[in-house]
Amino acid sequence: MLLFLTVYAKIFGTLISQKLGLISGCPEGLNTKQAPGRLPGLTATKWLSYGRITIYSQWDECFGYNLLFEITAMFSNRFDWQAQPNALSTLLAQKKAAGQSVIDLTQSNPTRVGLAYDHEAILAALSQAAALVYEPDARGWPGARRAIAEYYQEKGCAIDPEKLFLTASTSEAYGLLFKLLADGGDEVLIPSPGYPLLAYLARFEGLQAVAYPLRYDPEQGWQIDLDLLEALIAPKTRAILVVSPNNPTGSYVKPKELSILDELCRRHDLALVVDEVFADFAADPSASNRLGSVLGRTQCLTFVLNGFSKVLALPQIKLGWIAMAGQARLTLEAGHRLESLLDFYLPVSAPVQYAVAPLLGLRPAIQSQIIQRLQDNEQILRAQVAGLSNSRLLRREGGWYAIIEVADHLGDEERVIQLLAQANTLVHPGFFYDFHRDGFLVLSLLPEPSTFQTGVLNILQAFGKQSA
Ligand SMILES: Cc1ncc(COP(=O)(O)O)c(C=O)c1O
Repeated sequence: MLLFLTVYAKIFGTLISQKLGLISGCPEGLNTKQAPGRLPGLTATKWLSYGRITIYSQWDECFGYNLLFEITAMFSNRFDWQAQPNALSTLLAQKKAAGQSVIDLTQSNPTRVGLAYDHEAILAALSQAAALVYEPDARGWPGARRAIAEYYQEKGCAIDPEKLFLTASTSEAYGLLFKLLADGGDEVLIPSPGYPLLAYLARFEGLQAVAYPLRYDPEQGWQIDLDLLEALIAPKTRAILVVSPNNPTGSYVKPKELSILDELCRRHDLALVVDEVFADFAADPSASNRLGSVLGRTQCLTFVLNGFSKVLALPQIKLGWIAMAGQARLTLEAGHRLESLLDFYLPVSAPVQYAVAPLLGLRPAIQSQIIQRLQDNEQILRAQVAGLSNSRLLRREGGWYAIIEVADHLGDEERVIQLLAQANTLVHPGFFYDFHRDGFLVLSLLPEPSTFQTGVLNILQAFGKQSA
């Protein structure tokens, strides 16, 4: 087997591609074939990275294995730009290319699951003449902030519109807060299992996301391991991030947990960032420990995040916000700084800002449909899982996801690939959300009930063992 090296060197911003070694005699077309037993698209595999040098191995039927050295002087290391498609995404792409229909139980795009939106009202809200004049306000148009303050009022929380800041999304709000609170190399604590984007958003700002665990107890549901969280606080820690209810565990931060987090943040001079995008979707809204919002319940510097992508199930509108709370001295200082940061980006789109109040008026109609859908699908799932000896449905307090725990010998990746290969059904493996071990499947509860039921039957036929 011949080995040759390909060196890509970028010097002074110019790409010099130089091949070292023997290149000859390969019949045309032969070197494009796949390695035996490999899936298409997986031809180059990352071996290791050291600083700005990355080494890949690549199969070539003509020459055998190539080693590719890449020296990247031009691009940042904030992201794994060379990430290869994994076996699941490759299989999914193959199925789509072959025209096979897949039951997608990862579907969490609310605009694709047959909900009835008031199209006329949405379009009318977005076409107000006031938006034809550009009147920038870094915090966002005051009328929009007042409408959001009323949304909190309805939840029983008072907030001064001056402590609200509009952003283009919750994700953008995270980026702004990281810039406000931390310098490159600092750390933020994030929940695990948790929403996979958080670690990336931190990394994009040069920060390190450190995971604190949530533990499951059949009686109590999911709870934050507060002792371990405290042990993870280091001199470089700048903020504790909480998602309530958490994605995908569906667990709300409990009043008792919140008061301990508040005390920890004050003691260690940390900010508390609470993402409440799913807070309006409680499985049992009457449960006293499911906080509609943490606003007004903390004294530390607190930032509450939310937006229209979940509150109104309109991710395409692109509106998020930050609600700030805490001691007056701190919020005054933080408010000035946040406003300065926002000023560099200029405000959210004017048509969206003027649409805030009328769109919020559509909230009961859309949220009631979603809550009904979540309940119906969870009921289907509960009924199917009930008769199985090796699977259980974990307790959901809120949010859009369900978790099935399966006790068998399969790894999560193997399980989801088998399910897609044999039953054309797509679910998320637990590791996608950083579960601490194999044995978990995450399902979106949003798909239409008939689709959901078929998908659930497929899953349970594949892995479920009937109780004796
Ligand atoms: C917990 C959580 N936060 C934030 C977001 C993103 O919200 P946005 O669309 O406002 O960026 C999501 C999206 O699924 C989410 O699950």
